[in-house]
Amino acid sequence: MSARDGWNLISKAYQNNIRVSLEDVHYGPASPGEREMKLLGNVEGKDVLEIGCGGGHNTIVLAKWGARSTGLDISEEQLKHAERLAHEHKVAVQFHLGNMEQMEMFPDANFDIVLSSCAIGYSENIERTFHEAFRVLRRGGAFVFCVVHPFRNRGRAIRYSGRKLWGIGNYFDRRRRTWIWRFGDVVAKFYGYHRTMQDYFNALTSAGFVVEGLFEPEPYPLKKMTAEEKRMIPYYWEGAEKEYEIRKRVPFILLFKARKPLACNSAV
Ligand SMILES: C[S@@+](CC[C@H](N)C(=O)[O-])C[C@H]1O[C@@H](n2cnc3c(N)ncnc32)[C@H](O)[C@@H]1O
Repeated sequence: MSARDGWNLISKAYQNNIRVSLEDVHYGPASPGEREMKLLGNVEGKDVLEIGCGGGHNTIVLAKWGARSTGLDISEEQLKHAERLAHEHKVAVQFHLGNMEQMEMFPDANFDIVLSSCAIGYSENIERTFHEAFRVLRRGGAFVFCVVHPFRNRGRAIRYSGRKLWGIGNYFDRRRRTWIWRFGDVVAKFYGYHRTMQDYFNALTSAGFVVEGLFEPEPYPLKKMTAEEKRMIPYYWEGAEKEYEIRKRVPFILLFKARKPLACNSAV
């Protein structure tokens, strides 16, 4: 099924199974968020767009931090959750239904920051997505996004010489991969796309971005944390705890910071 149908199907169960903070922008499950990574700078008064905003948590946090905040997602059900959450928290944000590869609802040079967390891995065509992110950004604007790390996308836990290791079958196999999401009786199968680090880097520079930083954040030390401390994690998910031994050895998240140059040849 398409990502849109898949997310519509699992949205409710997914939102019930994760715990995402409304106090920090998150960069994936059990990973340090914006308060620690400091990639966005002061967002107060800035026009910020989150692409693949899902249940709207990051979009809402940005509005709470003083940004004029907009979220875009392809799933109606995810956006319903986002609208409800924004209403509950009395936060003014705009949500749009649409595809990050084709953001014709936004004029050129409309935002200071484009953000995305764990959503670009579902984009069929990252060249188009990055081109669109570049187009809607103002000159000097930042594009910050994270995806599931390609070492995780193409690997699985194995036992070797009595040790539990992470084995990568074929890092260069770029065929799309079916994700099976299962929450009790709710099961959805839809595609995610594997790209190597080189693919992300080159797609960014081809779109016109300058890459300022690449991060592979280590997870919070979940095993040493109290329940109270875990409640402060920007995105807590039990699955991350179960895989902790792997996560502390192999990166789960790949995070980029790129910038649209002040001086560039592009028309926008
Ligand atoms: C794992 S969720 C992440 C949501 C949110 N960023 C968060 O971190 O909570 C991925 C989201 O990407 C959205 N998505 C997938 N493909 C998309 C596309 N082509 N354009 C816009 N949104 C898309 C899905 O509907 C889903 O809500």
